[in-house]
Amino acid sequence: MSVLTELGTIRVVPVVEIENADDAVPLARALVAGGLPVMEVTYRTSAARTAIERVAAEVPEMIVGAGTLLSPANVTDAAQAGARFGVAPGCGGGVLAAAREAGLPFVPGAVTPAEIMDCLAEGCDVVKFFPAGSYGGLGTLRSLAGPFSAAGVRFVPTGGVSPDNLADYLAHPAVLAVGGTWIAPRKDITAGKWAEITERARAAVQVVEA
Ligand code: 3PG
Repeated sequence: MSVLTELGTIRVVPVVEIENADDAVPLARALVAGGLPVMEVTYRTSAARTAIERVAAEVPEMIVGAGTLLSPANVTDAAQAGARFGVAPGCGGGVLAAAREAGLPFVPGAVTPAEIMDCLAEGCDVVKFFPAGSYGGLGTLRSLAGPFSAAGVRFVPTGGVSPDNLADYLAHPAVLAVGGTWIAPRKDITAGKWAEITERARAAVQVVEA
């Protein structure tokens, strides 16, 4: 199964900011314990690369990806660190070519028809609809899904996804998975609140399975 297909099976991608690389392995184990063996480690902290390396080496059941990849250098770095997939908030800046070159399955950000067409032209049919809440949420996603279902486009809405709207997003057939920080917010990672993170992961899995 391709890694993006696996994301479509798990359906919820915790987006995480890790300040201290020592937190990466306990965090990955907490998510796995809650039934979510996937995480997007954002390149928003200097610990991101080491965090990915450690999870890839020590928690083999975790599908670790890299997010906030803003440049080709970020993409190459993440692939070398062992990320199994990459995510960007947008689709420009040369990241798609870099991902292709690195052989890294990639989810670029796109919120307009033109951006989605650019992604398709580059061979990407899974796009991060980000920031979903600010760009009209499920209403906009429904409108985009109409024409783009013909090309098999699937969306990963992220930004403003919460326990309150999770079920609604997941119910739309064009939604492959959702992403979000609510399961493992930065402050809880820094404070080592692993049990709380496991509990929120479990609650999300229950919504997926409902
Ligand atoms: C991301 O980078 O994907 C977003 O910051 C996540 O948005 P959220 O905090 O609203 O989940």
